[in-house]
Amino acid sequence: MKCTVCREPAVIDLRRHNSNFCASHFTKFCRDQTQKAIDEFDMMTPADKVLVAVSGGKDSLAVWDILLDLGYAASGLYIGLGIGDYSDESKRYAREFAERRGAELIEIDLPAEYGYDIPEGSRAARRAPCSACGLSKRHLFDQAAVDGGFDVLVTGHNLDDEAAVLFGNVLHWQTEYLGRQHPVLPARHGFPRKVKPLVRLGEREMAAYCIVSGIDYIVDECPMAVGNKHIGYKNALNEIERTSPGTKADFYLSFLRKAASRFAGEAEESRDGLGACERCGAPSTADVCAFCRLVERATSARQPVELTRKGS
Ligand code: AMP
Ligand code: FES
Ligand code: ZN
Ligand code: ZN
Repeated sequence: MKCTVCREPAVIDLRRHNSNFCASHFTKFCRDQTQKAIDEFDMMTPADKVLVAVSGGKDSLAVWDILLDLGYAASGLYIGLGIGDYSDESKRYAREFAERRGAELIEIDLPAEYGYDIPEGSRAARRAPCSACGLSKRHLFDQAAVDGGFDVLVTGHNLDDEAAVLFGNVLHWQTEYLGRQHPVLPARHGFPRKVKPLVRLGEREMAAYCIVSGIDYIVDECPMAVGNKHIGYKNALNEIERTSPGTKADFYLSFLRKAASRFAGEAEESRDGLGACERCGAPSTADVCAFCRLVERATSARQPVELTRKGS
């Protein structure tokens, strides 16, 4: 197998692009695809102050690496979610990367700063762990970006993630979500723009990028995500991709080009009813936002345990 560009031995074949690449041309391919997504969707410019949310996994470390190489001023944000060894290990990878690249890493520790961890938050709020986790992360991303004066918040969502979410939204015709499914969410209520620069690159490519770039990342999936329905959607799309390479990218990218705008009205309507949370000021449809309610329930569930412990 030879590199399509230079005819040297290739390290990866990309069936949907009908190409094989050596390590250096593959790295260039990933950078080019990222820049193409940034330009195509008007995500950001090198003048922007960029915050990359990093989980310690392959996607977010890869997007941070690529943005630094493309000349963006990008700091990292790591949130410790209190999910046992998984969180300890993922923090180590985020720190190691930041140190190696000499980049700033902002850290927020959910248990230390807000008094609960994801397993507790999920139990107290009677929400699935991924739902309590997503709610907490979204809020903390916004808050950290505002506090640090960042213009744009980047996440490592890749083509496989976005195609699986789209698949789920289509299967259930969740038209409001379809209206919001865009790789750029504009700034609003003083919060930063949110962008997903990896939407043209898949999971396998991001793992390969980290390997050829010498980036160590946490390979294990989050232990709380077991049974998450998106895993089933990803498997179904991978099966289709196996026999028809390129279908996944076409499904998602053609949705953005041809269909997404048709659902935009529904998303706007749901956004119009937003006021400010009376506790934290975040945009909310209720007096107290969902994050503040989660904090309240999770910490009040914790209190008696601590009191008993202190009293004993
Ligand atoms: P997930 O919600 O786990 O699929 O992660 C989606 C994206 O959210 C990742 O690519 C990261 O950009 C970001 N992210 C996930 N977990 C964390 C974390 N603990 N701290 C900071 N960012 C995170
Ligand atoms: Fe959020 Fe696993 S990372 S529940
Ligand atoms: Zn080559
Ligand atoms: Zn609030």
